[in-house]
Amino acid sequence: MEIVLNLVLVLHFLGLAAIIGVFLVQMRAKSGFRTDILLTGAITQVVTGLALVGIRQMGDLGVDNAKIAVKLIIALVILAAAILASVNKRKGGKVKPAFHAAGGLAIVNVIIAVLWD
Ligand code: HEM
Repeated sequence: MEIVLNLVLVLHFLGLAAIIGVFLVQMRAKSGFRTDILLTGAITQVVTGLALVGIRQMGDLGVDNAKIAVKLIIALVILAAAILASVNKRKGGKVKPAFHAAGGLAIVNVIIAVLWD
C-alpha cells in the first residue's frame, strides 16, 4: 500500500509541477499560453489528491479534513480557471487572467500543503 501511496504522491508532484512550471515560464507572456499543460496539471491534482485521501484512509493513515477541504476547494477553482483559460483560448478571448489565477492559486495550495499542520 505504501508503494502505491508514494507513486500517486509522485504523480501529485508532477501535476503541481505542470501547473506552476508552465505558469512561471509564461508569466510575462501576452499570447501563446499553454492551456493544455495547465489543464492536464489541474485535472491531475484533483484526481491524485482524491486518490491520496482514499489510499491514506484505506491504510488507516488519517488526513486533516479541514486542510483537505480547503485544498480541494482551491484545486476545483484552479480547474475551473484552467477550463476557462482553455475555452477563451479557443474562442480568441482573454486567457491571461484565468491563467494567472490558476498558477497563483497552485502556489497557495503548495504553501497550505507544507505549512498547515
Ligand atoms: C493544485 C493543487 C494541489 C497542490 C499544489 C498540492 C500540493 C501538495 C504538496 C506539495 C504535497 C506534499 C506535502 C505534504 O505532504 O503535505 C501534497 C500532499 C497531499 N495532498 Fe495535495 N495538492 C493539491 C491538491 C490536492 C487535493 C485536491 C487533494 C485532495 C482532495 C490533496 C490531497 C493531498 C494529500 C492527502 C497529501 C498527503 C500525501 C501523503 O503524504 O501521503 N491535494 N499536496
